[in-house]
Amino acid sequence: MVPVSAVGARGGSAPPRSNDPRPRLAQTLFGVEFQSPVLLASGTCGYGREYDGLIPLDRIGGLVTKAVSVEPRTGNPPHRIAETPAGMINAIGLHNVGLDRFISEKLPWLRDNLERARVFVNVVGRTVEDYAEVVSRLDVEEGFLGYEINVSCPNVKGGTMFGTDEAALAELVGRLRTCTERPIVVKLTPNVPDIGVFARLCEEEGADGLSAINTFPGMLIDVDRRRPVIGNVSGGVSGPAILPMGVYLTWRASRASSLPIMGIGGIRSARDALQYILAGASLVQVGTALFVDPSSAEAVHEGLEAHLERHAISSLTEMVGALELPAPPPPDAGTSG
Ligand SMILES: Cc1cc2nc3c(=O)[nH]c(=O)nc-3n(C[C@H](O)[C@H](O)[C@H](O)COP(=O)(O)O)c2cc1C
Repeated sequence: MVPVSAVGARGGSAPPRSNDPRPRLAQTLFGVEFQSPVLLASGTCGYGREYDGLIPLDRIGGLVTKAVSVEPRTGNPPHRIAETPAGMINAIGLHNVGLDRFISEKLPWLRDNLERARVFVNVVGRTVEDYAEVVSRLDVEEGFLGYEINVSCPNVKGGTMFGTDEAALAELVGRLRTCTERPIVVKLTPNVPDIGVFARLCEEEGADGLSAINTFPGMLIDVDRRRPVIGNVSGGVSGPAILPMGVYLTWRASRASSLPIMGIGGIRSARDALQYILAGASLVQVGTALFVDPSSAEAVHEGLEAHLERHAISSLTEMVGALELPAPPPPDAGTSG
């Protein structure tokens, strides 16, 4: 087990930026400094190397790897992605190289090539012991900061089982807490009646942070063929269409727990990211937008910097959770109609 204090992106602490005062976007979270709040979302940036040369990874906050399971997985039959009116639908099915190859082929590149970008490994399993095995075996390795625990994939059988069952989630988080001292961030599913209950439970069981949110289940139909477009029949909807839900659920999660949150869902611009930050997110992740423009994460970073400068805000932390609500607050901001 490697203590958090000993874990930089390379397994050591990152060097200070050359003659910069503390940049406005820098924050200390999970015991380390994030130079930027913008990360690349799991499943949309491979294992990092795929973006090498495409964007300067070491200028942004970091990335979350594709899900890693104990065994390699081949994923779902095609088509696995399709465009929707405001985003995309995917049913990749957690296709991944498995833990052994992740350790031997993917992690070394992250360890040797990223100085300042923080890396989270997205972890998935079918049982508590599966998750525990991934975390325990990875924990002796260097080259990443912590874990994002995926309990929220709608594209595989049982993929949201842990994320929608309070007792199962409590057992999982509690067990993983015994496997590592590194940061454990639980990626919540939007598909529950009250995300706050799950956010609070993660905190009680010892998690260090939350990611909100994963995709929403959805379906597209090819009317000529009278068949589902996606080979798996249904998939997870992401992109701009889910931004308002992501912002809302981040807000709900932040009111229910004091854990730092990574806000995710439909972020394309600094103004999108700021909505999540005002709602309570300390960090944000950019996913689907990368498929439209791989440089969008960097653009979000630059837009945030420009926003703070324009408004003479010295630190992003001032904006985290700084949403101002109308007074008196509505009795239940969750209802509609
Ligand atoms: C093609 C694709 C693959 C994904 N794979 C994963 C995954 O392996 N693990 C995970 O936790 N989330 C996965 N996600 C969900 C994203 O990380 C993110 O939560 C979601 O897409 C919402 O953000 P966005 O609207 O910016 O894409 C995937 C999303 C897409 C589009």
